[in-house]
Amino acid sequence: MRKNPYKGKFIVFEGLDGSGKSVQMELLDRFLKKGGFDVVLTKEPTMDSRAGKTIRLVLERKKKISPKKLQALYSQDRKAHLTGLIMPNLKKGKVVISDRYCFSSFAYGSMGVPLSYLLKINDKFLLPDLVYFINTNPETCISRIEKRGKKKTLFEYKEKLENVYQNYKKILKKFKNVIIIDGEKSIKETHRQIIKKIINYV
Ligand code: TYD
Repeated sequence: MRKNPYKGKFIVFEGLDGSGKSVQMELLDRFLKKGGFDVVLTKEPTMDSRAGKTIRLVLERKKKISPKKLQALYSQDRKAHLTGLIMPNLKKGKVVISDRYCFSSFAYGSMGVPLSYLLKINDKFLLPDLVYFINTNPETCISRIEKRGKKKTLFEYKEKLENVYQNYKKILKKFKNVIIIDGEKSIKETHRQIIKKIINYV
């Protein structure tokens, strides 16, 4: 993957389903905006690309495809996301924060696809300046997901999340600029851990 050559900073949140990424992203967004930064929040899979639309159907279990094809779609969706939204905003000097990126492909995809293939299909993409991993127990995530009361998507099962959790731990060690955040604390305390680190990166 290549380093970010643009003025703006690229920040990624990773974690299990139910880890609290989206709440923490909103809080960080508010914090940075108060400090005068121009921030763009975004998410993968996107809702815009054709690949993103097919992914949604698979996650909702309305369509079945192989794990390899599914992860290839995430990579296609990522390409469109990078060219259509991430890079143009980085060029303008904005802080772009994405809920999930290629590390999700590595951690979730590794369940059924060789990591070497996943690395290959994500090889041309931009490396984030900073990755936050919200570290929560798979059991905590499952109980939060169940409390939401929504129908579970493809990966939102305990055995799967346990597997994904181990994959994340292995894979994130290979990258620099990854910060592990204890996501078992209160929302406020987790936010505090996140903003303590941001100063060095924006
Ligand atoms: P979604 O419900 O959008 O995520 P969240 O629960 O974080 O709001 O579902 C995204 C799912 O897709 C999630 O279970 C992780 C999985 N995923 C992959 O398997 N590979 C990828 O490259 C990405 C971005 C996500």
